[in-house]
Amino acid sequence: MADSASSSLMKEQTDKIVPMVWFSCALAALAGLLFGMDVGVISGAQAGIEATFQISEQMMGWIVGSMMLGAAIGAFGAGQISRLLGRKKSLLLSAVLFVAGSLLAAWSWSPAVLIAARILLGLAVGIASFTAPLYLSEIAPERIRGTTISMYQLMVTVGILAAFLSNTALSYLEGESWRWMLGVIAIPAVLLFVGVLMMPNSPRWLASQERYNEARQVLNKLRSGEHEVENEMDEIQESMKLEQHTSGWAMFRSNPNFRRSVTLGVALQLVQQFTGINVIMYYAPKIFQLTGFEDTAAQLWSTVIVGLVNVFATFIAIGFVDRWGRKPILYTGFAIMTVSMAVLGTLLNIGTTTAALQYTAMTALLVFVAGFAMSAGPLVWTLCAEIQPLKGRDFGITCSTVANWVANMIVGTYFLVIINNAGGPITFWLLAAINFLFVFFIAVFVPETKGISLEKIEKNLMSGKSLRNIGT
Ligand code: BGC
Repeated sequence: MADSASSSLMKEQTDKIVPMVWFSCALAALAGLLFGMDVGVISGAQAGIEATFQISEQMMGWIVGSMMLGAAIGAFGAGQISRLLGRKKSLLLSAVLFVAGSLLAAWSWSPAVLIAARILLGLAVGIASFTAPLYLSEIAPERIRGTTISMYQLMVTVGILAAFLSNTALSYLEGESWRWMLGVIAIPAVLLFVGVLMMPNSPRWLASQERYNEARQVLNKLRSGEHEVENEMDEIQESMKLEQHTSGWAMFRSNPNFRRSVTLGVALQLVQQFTGINVIMYYAPKIFQLTGFEDTAAQLWSTVIVGLVNVFATFIAIGFVDRWGRKPILYTGFAIMTVSMAVLGTLLNIGTTTAALQYTAMTALLVFVAGFAMSAGPLVWTLCAEIQPLKGRDFGITCSTVANWVANMIVGTYFLVIINNAGGPITFWLLAAINFLFVFFIAVFVPETKGISLEKIEKNLMSGKSLRNIGT
């Protein structure tokens, strides 16, 4: 009796997630929110920037795309930075860059300064988007690890929504309201900085620096039982031996199977970006204008609806990914995206002359966003982490993340040029055709990874099985 009472007490203690873990997870998720805000803010600020600086569409494309250039560079260096400085100092660095970039953007006195500010913000986003999920996965106890990582994805969409809302609210200010839209992001960035100061270092990173005593002290703060701490220290030391075995680049050169998984990760991110999702995230008000909504306030309120749909559809993915599997969700999402883009192109072609047609066009756009957010949005990130073998995971994820930002920049920079030269109907038909082709890409190359351990996926990959079958 006493025995069973004490063992249930022990279990209760080890099952408890200590407040410090929730606090640190919430802060890392705040980094996701900032990432989302920086993605979302530019759509509502464009009209004002154009009015202040009288710039060409090409220059506007550069202002939008410069953040993604910074993010590609940031993501490229993030692995190294977070290894050398540690996760905590990397997040601090990115918070400083977020504050500096937001303030400089708000005060920018020329388009060139604005571009420089957006590159700084991009560096911040690139570093944060690599480090925050990594930190989360390193401090969260295993049983909540999956949830915390999905939460991070969700926070990115919440950040986009927050930016759409703040853009809309601030648009009612007199004068150059775009400066407020860009500057206000400094507030959550300061919060991130102060919060990160209070966060513990990642125990895994400390162990990788051979600072085992400190690692144990941190784990004592993050776990509720002695037993749990000791088990985890053993695990960490075990996995350190593995991870330091070889560098990702050396493995990439010598191992053709690893080259296949890295190539698949890069391809998945290119596919995600060439769906055209960010055409909507960055240029939604412009597209609403094309479909006949002339009023700026109506355009901005419509972006808020886009943001809401984006958040809610992400829940579909989170809720069903482990029940339906990755591929059925991807097929459904890409079919929805193909049809909705084709409908939008066709409506623009016949002309949205009546209110009914205008609302149908807007619905097509929202359906497209829902199709993306329930599938390619979160799932591509999940798959990119799942398909890489342990020893090359950092390298593989760095490659695919950089690919995401480079493709993101290409789409963000050239969309206005394409739509002005080819026109709305052809641009959206083209996106429909691309999304249709991606269905075949999924069928031929993408594995189903539902309910299979990462070790099994790795074994299949390394034994030379075709990519499509590494999940079976
Ligand atoms: C993509 C971003 C996009 C966001 C929209 C993410 O998965 O990587 O480029 O802006 O989804 O919610």
